[in-house]
Amino acid sequence: MAFVSWKDEYGVGVVSVDQQHQKLFSLLNALEAHLHGGAPKMDVDRAVAELEQYYRYHFTDEERMLGMLGTAPSADHRKQHAWFIAEVAKAGLDRVEGKDVNPLDLVEFLRDWLVNHILVVDRGAFSEANARLDRL
Ligand SMILES: [Fe+2]
Ligand SMILES: [Fe+2]
Repeated sequence: MAFVSWKDEYGVGVVSVDQQHQKLFSLLNALEAHLHGGAPKMDVDRAVAELEQYYRYHFTDEERMLGMLGTAPSADHRKQHAWFIAEVAKAGLDRVEGKDVNPLDLVEFLRDWLVNHILVVDRGAFSEANARLDRL
């Protein structure tokens, strides 16, 4: 069974956002499979970098889309994105410096944060945007 699987309840009602969230799930699955399979450090590093890059892209694009829908993301929503990216970067740095970071704990943290953020913050923000569109 996949490390993280998509469920209908994660949908925010905007196809391109759901697709980006699904892509994040598949990058998380790839990273977890690398870690479990004992892949060489170089492959793990590449999977981490790819994931971090895609998180950055997604957060920027999501904030842009919410703005275009007339419901600019709240300061708290943007703060959560920025906080998370800083956490990911810090974890990456700790790995580079050889600090005691269990990579499997890290990938679980990345998954749990993302699922919770989608369910609570993203769904809330996009339901507001969709409700606005319905009223137009
Ligand atoms: Fe978000
Ligand atoms: Fe999101």
